[in-house]
Amino acid sequence: MSPYGLFDPPPMSAITPIGTAGTLGASTGVCATRAAAAEAKREPFGALADGTPIEAVNLSNNSGMTVRVITLGASIQSLRVPDRYGGAGDIVLGFSTAQEYMDDSNYFGATIGRFANRIAKGRFSLDGIDYSLATNDHGNHLHGGKRGFDKVVWTLDSATGGSAATAVFSYVSADGEEGYAGTLHVTATYSLDDRNVLHIEYRATTDKTTIVNITGHSYFNLAGADRHGSAMAHLVQIHASRYTPVDALLIPTGELRSVDGTPFDFRAPTPVGQRIRDGRDPQIRRGRGYDHNFLIDGAAGELRIAARVEDPQSGRVLEILTTAPGLQFYSGNFLAATTAGKRARLYRQGDGLAFEPQVFPDAPNHSSFPSARLDPDHVFRNSIEYRFSVAAAPEEPPASAPAR
Ligand code: GLA
Repeated sequence: MSPYGLFDPPPMSAITPIGTAGTLGASTGVCATRAAAAEAKREPFGALADGTPIEAVNLSNNSGMTVRVITLGASIQSLRVPDRYGGAGDIVLGFSTAQEYMDDSNYFGATIGRFANRIAKGRFSLDGIDYSLATNDHGNHLHGGKRGFDKVVWTLDSATGGSAATAVFSYVSADGEEGYAGTLHVTATYSLDDRNVLHIEYRATTDKTTIVNITGHSYFNLAGADRHGSAMAHLVQIHASRYTPVDALLIPTGELRSVDGTPFDFRAPTPVGQRIRDGRDPQIRRGRGYDHNFLIDGAAGELRIAARVEDPQSGRVLEILTTAPGLQFYSGNFLAATTAGKRARLYRQGDGLAFEPQVFPDAPNHSSFPSARLDPDHVFRNSIEYRFSVAAAPEEPPASAPAR
């Protein structure tokens, strides 16, 4: 059985646990012989150009993982994970200073809200009231507007260690911010345990009926974001039989289309780059690659597998689970070597892959899509898990095999 009890794991021959993962897990009932290990440490992360101080929290565990989250955007700034040889590498794109995050528009590692993805013309109506949101993407609303959750400074409410290292961030979005109704109280909780599972939980409550769609926007390059090049050789599997095709401005048309026989069929692990230049598919042309929302199989509201990503070279494997109904898969198409990230590395198209569990784009304008509505006395919740492991190295040919 899966140690997580949620889905069938890949064959054990394909996956080996990292470090001591499993020996401390609750499912084994085995007591740890060493002290509880996961730690959360706060530290300064410099300041914005206007002097606003930014704080960071470092979460670390006993299995070789560390995660740094900063108060600007409650963003994952670095995520170090061992490869199959035990060497830790930073596998997310981003910057080493806070002001670079402020000046950039790629949403590296950020918390996205109030509404992740696009709302056509920034308009929608709810209970007969018409709303007009800030527009920031070809006349449409994208990722919360001109000043989304990625560009505000969150409060680091707590940082605690123990069987998991946990940091809780909060932000209060004022009534009317970017055109949205209601005062919205938001928390983003990051929790790292010794199984190399990073659990992220977004919650929000409102005092007026409104819409909410909060997610995280990390770009992964499992080979190591500061060393290697493109992520196009990563094997991606997305547990979705349908996706939402888009118009020329990446707004869903409303159709729920089968992935069957299209470059959007990731039901079996497939190298990202294999079909990304298939210009016969107008959807690939519109997205300049993948920039589409997939309907995750299974029941929304339950934590279930959405995607699996593997870098064959390093062996790093990332499984993404979520309670959200959809998953935006964005293959880093707008990265154009105009941005120098950590260690001055220039990010080029396809250098990082974003997987954004969310309510469907433009949901407020499609009654057939899952609803993004949030009423007072209800809690918006999006749970996401990143589970890291390593795939075994491909088998060496036996020493006696004739050289080819
Ligand atoms: C999302 C969008 C993309 C792009 C990126 C940020 O993933 O779907 O079109 O805007 O964010 O560059």
